[in-house]
Amino acid sequence: MFELNLQGIDIYGEPPKKDPERQYYYIAKCRDYLKKREEELGRKLTYHNETFGCQMNFKDSEKLNGVLEAIGYEPRDDEKADFVIYNTCTVRENANDRVYGRIGYLGKLKKTRTDMLIAMCGCMMQEPTAVEKIKTSYRFVDLIFGTHNIFKLAELIWSVYEEREQRKKDPKLKKRMVIDVWKDTNEIIEELPSSLKYSFKAGVNIMFGCNNFCTYCIVPYVRGRERSRKPEDIINEIKDMISHGVVEVMLLGQNVNSYGKNLEEPITFAELLRRVDAIEGIKRIRFMTSHPKDLSDELIDVIAESKHVCRHIHLPVQSGSDRLLKLMNRHYTRDDYLKLVEKLKSRIPDIAITTDIIVGFPGETDEDFEDTLDICRKVCYDSAFTFIYSKRTGTPAAAMPDQVPEEVTSERFKKLLEVVGKCSEERAKLLTGQTLPVLVEEENRTEDMLTGRLDNNLLVHFKGDISLLGNIVNVKLNECKGFYYIGELV
Ligand code: SAH
Ligand code: SF4
Ligand code: F3S
Repeated sequence: MFELNLQGIDIYGEPPKKDPERQYYYIAKCRDYLKKREEELGRKLTYHNETFGCQMNFKDSEKLNGVLEAIGYEPRDDEKADFVIYNTCTVRENANDRVYGRIGYLGKLKKTRTDMLIAMCGCMMQEPTAVEKIKTSYRFVDLIFGTHNIFKLAELIWSVYEEREQRKKDPKLKKRMVIDVWKDTNEIIEELPSSLKYSFKAGVNIMFGCNNFCTYCIVPYVRGRERSRKPEDIINEIKDMISHGVVEVMLLGQNVNSYGKNLEEPITFAELLRRVDAIEGIKRIRFMTSHPKDLSDELIDVIAESKHVCRHIHLPVQSGSDRLLKLMNRHYTRDDYLKLVEKLKSRIPDIAITTDIIVGFPGETDEDFEDTLDICRKVCYDSAFTFIYSKRTGTPAAAMPDQVPEEVTSERFKKLLEVVGKCSEERAKLLTGQTLPVLVEEENRTEDMLTGRLDNNLLVHFKGDISLLGNIVNVKLNECKGFYYIGELV
């Protein structure tokens, strides 16, 4: 991965104005401070990162962890660490509830652990009400920052160290929380350390933010406007990953199909995919998420003709009712969507199609819901993430009339699960008896099995040696267990 060089940095001089050099300076400064602290305590200091939400947040966490490790913190699996960071999500109300539930526990831990520092970041921190709540009810938190300035972590940690040192010198000083949340940004800072969770597969941001403003969704408000990374930066990062053993990359964006539009030299997502496909040593390419309104014929051709792009597309439909799709601001009709699916299936017959569906959007009638069930049956998804609509303050849908009562949504939700479950099983079963390549991803110690993924994203469990982790092996798919297979190595 990107090699951080801290040599020659004068940590007692002025900080550089430009990033990422400014952050190297603060990493070096924090590292020096931490070393001294370790000597005083006679032990290593640790960090724990708890990440909520989607692939974007998990990717951000790899960057945060990269900086924490460059500073000198060692990873730890539980919250009894010296630096605990929560990377939060706010896409649905229950995401927030989970975070609040856990911060209370951190407060208890902190009472007996004097060195412990607590940081909160991520999408939820972009909401002023959440920050206010933490400021008033969870005063023991040391640092709050948002989604736009994660690259500044070392600089922010330095401010936290300074604050703590000032209080040590002057015990009368009241604790001050370091808070730095930006409304939006145009900046993309490259060349910062990153600590990958897996050695053989990795997410790669190709763009940040979202301009779509689906009326139920908070993401555009907490992740800012759409901006794309330069193709050369993306390609170089992937080449670097491959030289370190990565075989599968997942290109990440809230709507990858509008990649490249705002670049000085605009390029399409399809063209980017073509270039990534040509990188030597790459074995598998995935991408997330594709908005149906922007999926081009060019992209379908690239998937069909590519050597390494997986035969899987995540194509969130959200609803099968034209009336609701309009209210949701999705810019396609059920007919457009079904035609797109037809095109995909005829051009790439073995493609797996997965989706996201929302139940109980304001005003959803029985008829609208029947349309959703109908589109699910027609497409017959390989798998579907189903969500009960959650009201997000500040989004247009939150103010729409006829919010659907809970009894109705939960009944509809159950029905939807039945329909999508049946299709997933039906689709999965089609592969029984075939021998297909599987990327070995995990070891399941309790069952003495390995777990891997087919090109179409389906999970396969089989017996094998742990040394196979990260390799692509051929597995015979013996028994379909619904949404996964039991197979054998051949
Ligand atoms: N950018 C991606 C999805 C981001 S959020 C896309 O457009 O597909 C992931 C999923 O969460 C969405 O697809 C949607 O189905 C769901 N979601 C977003 N806001 C929601 C809300 N307020 N209530 C319930 N589900 C929601
Ligand atoms: Fe949200 Fe729509 Fe943007 Fe996806 S495309 S992040 S659902 S606003
Ligand atoms: Fe959640 Fe933010 Fe992702 S709100 S779903 S973590 S973009």
